[in-house]
Order: sequence, then C-alpha cells, then structure tokens
Amino acid sequence: MAANIIPLTQRPAWKALQDHYHKIKDLHLRSLFAEDPHRAERLSVEGLGIYLDYSKNRITDETLRLLLNLAETSGIRARIEAMFRGEKINITEQRAVLHVALRAPKDASILVDGANVVPEVHAVLDKMADFANRVRSGDWKGYTGKRIRNVVNIGIGGSDLGPMMAYEALKHYSDRNLTVRFVSNIDGTDIAEATRDLDPAETLFAVCSKTFTTLETLTNAQTARDWCLKALGDKKAVAKHFVAVSTNGEEVAKFGIDTANMFEFWDWVGGRYSYDSAIGLSLMIGIGPDQFRGMLSGFQAMDEHFRTTPFEKNLPVLLGLIGIWYINFFEAETHAILPYDQYLWRLSAYLQQLDMESNGKHVDLDGNVVGYHTGPIIWGQPGTNGQHAYYQLIHQGTRLIPCDFIGFCQSTNPLGPHHNLLMANFFAQTEALAFGKTSKEVEAEGVPASLVPHRTFEGNHPTNTILAAKLTPEMLGKLIALYEHKVFVQGTIWNINSFDQWGVELGKMLANRISQELANHVEPKLEHDSSTNILLRRYLRLRSAD
Ligand code: F6P
Repeated sequence: MAANIIPLTQRPAWKALQDHYHKIKDLHLRSLFAEDPHRAERLSVEGLGIYLDYSKNRITDETLRLLLNLAETSGIRARIEAMFRGEKINITEQRAVLHVALRAPKDASILVDGANVVPEVHAVLDKMADFANRVRSGDWKGYTGKRIRNVVNIGIGGSDLGPMMAYEALKHYSDRNLTVRFVSNIDGTDIAEATRDLDPAETLFAVCSKTFTTLETLTNAQTARDWCLKALGDKKAVAKHFVAVSTNGEEVAKFGIDTANMFEFWDWVGGRYSYDSAIGLSLMIGIGPDQFRGMLSGFQAMDEHFRTTPFEKNLPVLLGLIGIWYINFFEAETHAILPYDQYLWRLSAYLQQLDMESNGKHVDLDGNVVGYHTGPIIWGQPGTNGQHAYYQLIHQGTRLIPCDFIGFCQSTNPLGPHHNLLMANFFAQTEALAFGKTSKEVEAEGVPASLVPHRTFEGNHPTNTILAAKLTPEMLGKLIALYEHKVFVQGTIWNINSFDQWGVELGKMLANRISQELANHVEPKLEHDSSTNILLRRYLRLRSAD
C-alpha cells in the first residue's frame, strides 16, 4: 500500500520546497558562510562518534525546516516502525525487511509471522563463530590433514561486495596468516587468478548465495570443486573444503555440499543488506568472531539512533534529506562517495549496489510511474587518488556533483607525515569545492587576463563531511548502517520499494537464451534483432580462432 495518497510532487511539503528552491538556488556558500559565523556549528551534528558537518551544502535554515517537514509528512516514522516490527514492507515479494534483526541483541524480540527470529540469528552467529575459530586455530583441517590457510569466498552482488568491502576495510584487524580472497565474476579469469597460487589441500571455499541458483556463483563453485577434486582425488574432500551460506538448503544439497556445513540466513534479509548475516562468514574467519561482533554492535547502535533520534539530529535522515534536495530540486544526477582511507577502497562499489539496486526504481508502491527522479548514480574512489583523476570535473566541470567526504582523525597505520598529509587534502578539498577562487582573486595573483577564466573556481559545490576518530569494526558497522538507513529514508520519501530488484531479471533471462545458442557447435538459427544477430555471428566465427 502506498504511504501517501497524494502524489509526492503534489504535496504541500514538496511544493514548498520547489518554491524555496527557486528563491535560493543561486545563493553561494561564500555568502552563506560570510553572513553567519556560526553556520558550521549550527549545521553539524554528532552521533555515535560520527561528526557530520553538512554546513557546506546549498541550504539555509529554511531549507532544512522544509526538508524536515517533508520527512515528517512522508510517513518515515511509521515505516521505520513497520520495518522493525517485521511487517512485509517488501510488497512485491511479500517479505519482511529485517536486516536490523541480524544485529539485534540476544534478548530482543522481532517477530516474523508471529515467531521471534532473534534466537535463530544468534544460533547462526554462534555456529559461525565456532566454525571461524576452528579454521583460525587450525582445528578444522583439510581432507589431507593440512591446516586451512586460504579462504575463497564465491558469491556475487550482495554475496560478494559486502564481505569483500568489509574484509578490505578491516584488513588491519585480520589474521595475516590466512589469505582471504573473493571471486565473483563469471569470467574464468577471476577464479583462475584467485586460485593459481593456492594449494587445494589448504583451501576452503565459502559458496555464498542467498538463492543458490545464481549462474555466476554456481559456475565458479563448480570450477572450484573440479579444481579441488582434481588435486585431492576423492569426492569426500568436498565436505572439508566447501561450506555454503544460503537460504536454500535444497539447492545446497543438490550441489553436493553437506547441509551440516551450511550456514543459514533468511528470505527477510535482502542480498545487499546481508553481509552482517552468515554471508559475512569469510569476513568472520578473517577478522575473528570478536571483531565481527564489534562490527555488529556498531550496526545496532546506528539502528537505535535511526529509530529513536529526532529527525533534526538523525544522521541517516539528514543525509537522506540532503540527497533529496540535490536529486529532486537541483536535478543532480550523481553522488560521489569519497573515503579518505585506503582500507575503504571498495566502499563506493559496495554502496553502488546498496543504493542503486535499492532505489533505482521508476514506479511507486502502487505501480504508477513516478514523476520525479529516484536513486542517484553512486560512484567514487578513495582520496587522494581521485584528486589526480576526476576531481577536475567536480571543481570546474558543468555538473553539480554532491559529495560525501569520509575521514578519520587517527590512522590505522601511523607512518611519518602520511596521515596529516592525507587529512590536509581531505579538509582542503571541501574548502576548495565550497568557496572556490574568484576571478578577482586570480587576477590579484598576477595571472594573465587570458588565463583568468581557466584558473577561476566557481565554488558552491556541496559536500557532507563525515569525520570519526578511527576506522574500527564498530565504526564500520555504524557507517554501513548509516547508509542503509539513508537509502531507506529516500526510498520512503519517493514512495518506492527499495527492497526488490526486478530490473536485473531481463538481462539474466536473455543471457540464458543466448548461452544455449552459444553452447551449440552448429551455427544456431538466430532470431534476435539484427544488431544482436550480427554480433553473435561474429563471436561464433572468431571464438575459436587463434
Ligand atoms: O541479480 C541481482 C542479485 O539478486 C542481487 O540482488 C544479489 O545480491 C545477487 O544477485 C546475488 O544473489 P544470490 O546471493 O542469490 O546469489
């Protein structure tokens, strides 16, 4: 059911924002800061050790008031409660949306169809911890009796990006005697490169797939199984070298993995919201159960913050509203995520799926085509690399690109001047983006007149600064939950279903048809469009050429 009967763009809260936009769209951050020396103090908030400075946004107090009014009138509170209550808010799949249950404390009660799911969550966590400890201690041995030294996670999408991003983010806390790798692409190169220097007798594969029907994952898992058995020679070895993480025991068994070696999760966990479920098994093996639980406590703290904090101090709500301001009123197409921490080098890739698969929707909850933009294109790379690549366009291009800068006061690898230099860039960039450099300032530097336009920085480029003390497992959990809930806030305002992903189906179906055509040795009768037919014929002709 739709949260609101009146279409979003017809609602007074929306119309008020539209009017307001026309009044303030040309205001410059230079004047907003000059007029108000306390702007940064007022337009910032601290919660759970995360300091969010949103003062370098093209907003006034009135903008904020109107955005908060939009939030209040969009049914966000009711929808948060519905999610936490286990209601089936994923209406197109008739499923509850309960990633928050994955990090709920043991004594919590969250009901799905009348049954408390929290005890099951903790039972699986305990089973994971027991297994992770056995692998880490060498108690779990491979088929030949050798200790496991390599863990290869096989999955794709949410069954890969989450654990991979988090493993990279928390590498500092991981056991360096273990090699943990992630294979996702159906391109054989991925698994070939991931296994080429590994000893099968020392390698454990965690096959992760919510459905256990995903072509990429099953193909990679089959290749891994062949690789393992070729070396170890006995089917019995599978039980020692393969574990599965899935909601689908039947398919796991069909694949040949003993369901005793299966770690379960549930259909009320969306793939892109799942890395704190058993999907995080490889991560847990890498960093250990204690650090994993520390991460869960960070998630949980942010869940509580989101659920209970008034909107004007609520981190996910503020981030969500500011995003709406740019997407729907300034018509910004993209949003950059710029972490100034090398360990977060896969964060943007992870957030791409989280945000774009959730909010890349064109119809509302009633199936009506929306008359406004929904999820933005998410992109980014860790600082400072981007500064020497694409920041030029953010500074001087023609597009408006709102950015989130994420940084930490303490380095995980304190090394001479590195951290100060990294953070100097972090602070300098948001300053440069906001305030730019006027042509007058450029002229005053003695720059020749012909170069002045080229060296002028318009400024007025909006940024959020997210600053925390240190990247720890707990902090990572807080940050990820912050973005999960931000996506939720935006999806609620847009009145869309953030929890299905029908848009990936058509490509899968067509690939299935084409893969059957490509499997034939005789040239198939092709009945696609003329472009696809020609491309396929070319491929068939050249595929076996040297
Ligand atoms: O095709 C998209 C998708 O369903 C994602 O939503 C999901 O994270 C990914 O595929 C992998 O799915 P599974 O975990 O079922 O293999």
